[in-house]
Amino acid sequence: MRWPVTLRWGDLVLRPLRRTDARRWSGVRRENAAWLRPWEATLPAADPGVPATFGAMVRANAREARAGRAEAFALDVDGVLMGQVTLGGIAWGSLRSAYIGYWISQEVAGRGIMPRAVALVTDHAFADLGLHRIEINVRPENAASLRVVAKVGYREEGYRPRYLHIDGAWRDHVSFVMLADEWPSGGVARRLAATSGDAGARAVGRPLHNSDTPDPVIRGRVARDTGDSLPGIGT
Ligand SMILES: CC(C)(COP(=O)(O)OP(=O)(O)OC[C@H]1O[C@@H](n2cnc3c(N)ncnc32)[C@H](O)[C@@H]1OP(=O)(O)O)[C@@H](O)C(=O)NCCC(=O)NCCS
Repeated sequence: MRWPVTLRWGDLVLRPLRRTDARRWSGVRRENAAWLRPWEATLPAADPGVPATFGAMVRANAREARAGRAEAFALDVDGVLMGQVTLGGIAWGSLRSAYIGYWISQEVAGRGIMPRAVALVTDHAFADLGLHRIEINVRPENAASLRVVAKVGYREEGYRPRYLHIDGAWRDHVSFVMLADEWPSGGVARRLAATSGDAGARAVGRPLHNSDTPDPVIRGRVARDTGDSLPGIGT
């Protein structure tokens, strides 16, 4: 698989976690512990596969991405790590499916950042990975996350009782899905920019890969992308 991948929308950048993120990542997680706890995945029993250190987690993420099993993105706003988005559980063969999970610091919540991030990852998953199906599972109590899937245009598929272990117990979830043939031409990022009426509409390009060595077509888009920043992001 092609990795590392970098996706951009103005001042919002999704990129692989680095070992040098250790201090910032621990800090933002600590500051947001109470904010994240009700929505965070937990393990029903001790799991020997969990990385013991931040460095081990970064290495495991890179290994999983290169193997085509999961892509974990750090979410930077104005150059500061503020959250994460993961395209996980990537399955190939006759399924070609994955899920998206996400969190953001409360400090920048409510600015429409996560819908943009989810839109970028969605477009990347369909356009670049060629997946057939993406799902996002949300607890029915999570009003903010229900807004994210609605803004990006995921379709409600159904109710999954006791689907995921969250905050110490098996919790019911609502499953939201987008299939490749439901994905709009031009992508969901472009549609989101147009429907949210922000100045970022022109700034949204196709997902950008390997920003150090972009291909010529993509490089042209990079130049346009970095020219605009979005209202509400990083201000
Ligand atoms: C869910 C989450 C990622 C949304 O990200 P975001 O970048 O704030 O998304 P948006 O800006 O589109 O806001 C979504 C909703 O949050 C609510 N919201 C608005 N301002 C807010 C603020 N200052 N603080 C908290 N929530 C706010 C609103 O209901 C908003 O919907 P609206 O725009 O229709 O009013 C974020 O709230 C979060 O990380 N929560 C904790 C972890 C979590 O729930 N992860 C998802 C598990 S499925």
